[in-house]
Amino acid sequence: MSVVIVVGAQWGDEGKGKVVDLFTERADTVVRYGGGANAGHTLVIDGKKLVTHLVPSGVCHPGKSCVLGDGMVIDPQTLLEELADCQARGLLARGELLVGLGAHVILPYHKLIDGLREDRGATKGNAIGTTRRGIGPAYEAKAGRRGVRMRDLYKRDRLRDLVRANMDELVPLIVHLGGTVPGTAEIDSWIEAAYVAGQKLAPHTGDAGRHVARAIAEGRHVLFEGAQGCLLDLDHGTYPYVTSSSTIAAGACQSAGVGPTQIDAVVGITKAYATRVGAGPFPTELHGEAGDKLRVAGGEFGSTTGRPRRCGWLDLPALRMGVRLSGMQSLALTKLDVLADLPEVAVCTAYEVDGRELDEPPIDPDDIERAKPIFTKFPGWGPLPTVTREISDLPPTAKAFVETIERMSGVQFCLISVGPDRMQTIRLHDPFEPSRQATR
Ligand code: GDP
Ligand code: IMO
Ligand code: MG
Repeated sequence: MSVVIVVGAQWGDEGKGKVVDLFTERADTVVRYGGGANAGHTLVIDGKKLVTHLVPSGVCHPGKSCVLGDGMVIDPQTLLEELADCQARGLLARGELLVGLGAHVILPYHKLIDGLREDRGATKGNAIGTTRRGIGPAYEAKAGRRGVRMRDLYKRDRLRDLVRANMDELVPLIVHLGGTVPGTAEIDSWIEAAYVAGQKLAPHTGDAGRHVARAIAEGRHVLFEGAQGCLLDLDHGTYPYVTSSSTIAAGACQSAGVGPTQIDAVVGITKAYATRVGAGPFPTELHGEAGDKLRVAGGEFGSTTGRPRRCGWLDLPALRMGVRLSGMQSLALTKLDVLADLPEVAVCTAYEVDGRELDEPPIDPDDIERAKPIFTKFPGWGPLPTVTREISDLPPTAKAFVETIERMSGVQFCLISVGPDRMQTIRLHDPFEPSRQATR
């Protein structure tokens, strides 16, 4: 039995979808643990693309149990659409999906407020650049103990009372933010739509915590799938430019109700460079033509919103912070192929702030903004061989680049991804076999 957490080591979009799909070969149960439909995880199987927003990225392996943890915030309409899309592809046909009854529900007013705040932030120059999926407002309601949970969708009266009570509090905020206050008929239509969605989702909801606990007790392989990345964590990320959930590995325990002693391995995912969507400090960001080139080479446009991602060099201080926050024992490196055609590749090994050298980002976001990255440069390595299955297949400079990241992050790679497809992968060790780690 092994319980493995996969977590984004940067600002999201590291390639978690691809890696979780690969690791699911060995897993019995896959549990998405954080956030909601702000995530967009891409899987490419035999050239066919699937983007998951709520459903775990293990979905393409028939018969594996796919769980949405109680710590998630779930938009029922989005989940129904995703479920229909999966079923049209012949996936989740055996009732594999289980949504935690304790998960919170995203309702239209959460998205309304998210959007109004972003619009207002845009005029004042302090927008976070959220995905406008209602994530922040839904987690606010949860922390304020007035949220609507999946279990509330089945009790019409309770659902109506909860939504109306929330709206009573939110109307002044909507007015303050310059929004149009929804009328009673519109609010009633939200309640009805949520109730109907709840009826459709009922066969897929249950006690996710006990389900996962049972899988672990029965000795099954359980894989936890993180969303976003460590630097977007509510407590430890580049606050306030973060999401509203716990994105680090500890979030898996919190969301699924699993004790930390049950976890056998934590695998972080990092790109060979860095990207960020939305606002916030990004010391290694490349502006102008250099950033545009990397964006095009890496296809760096949001899987959820289509927004162009900000692109820059790999940031080892930020990566070290992710490694520390999540206790990563190994890393998966993705998108090494994207750097292949560049004449020169750089890696930030430390920051300089006020004459001091730092190996992790400073705590104050203003200091991160001022941080000057110190770079090590590598000559470009040119195209990778068409078939790259072993580390020895890599050109020598690419190999040196990989080894430098391992040495300077203090963590070895368990996998190197050289293209979006399942086949385009160098597998180094299996995270479900912890004893075989770090043998290279
Ligand atoms: P996630 O949110 O972490 O699952 O990542 P996204 O799906 O948002 O973004 C990662 C993108 O990179 C997707 O389009 C993947 O298909 C793609 N991808 C993943 N690994 C590789 C790789 O090694 N090389 C290339 N070129 N693309 C990759
Ligand atoms: P995956 O799982 C990249 C970012 C948003 C914004 C901030 C807050 O695909 O890696 P939110 O809508 O969560 O309130 O937005 O967090 N963000 C992501 N960036 N990948 C994601 O998910 C993200 N989910 C949220 O761009 O900066
Ligand atoms: Mg993504």
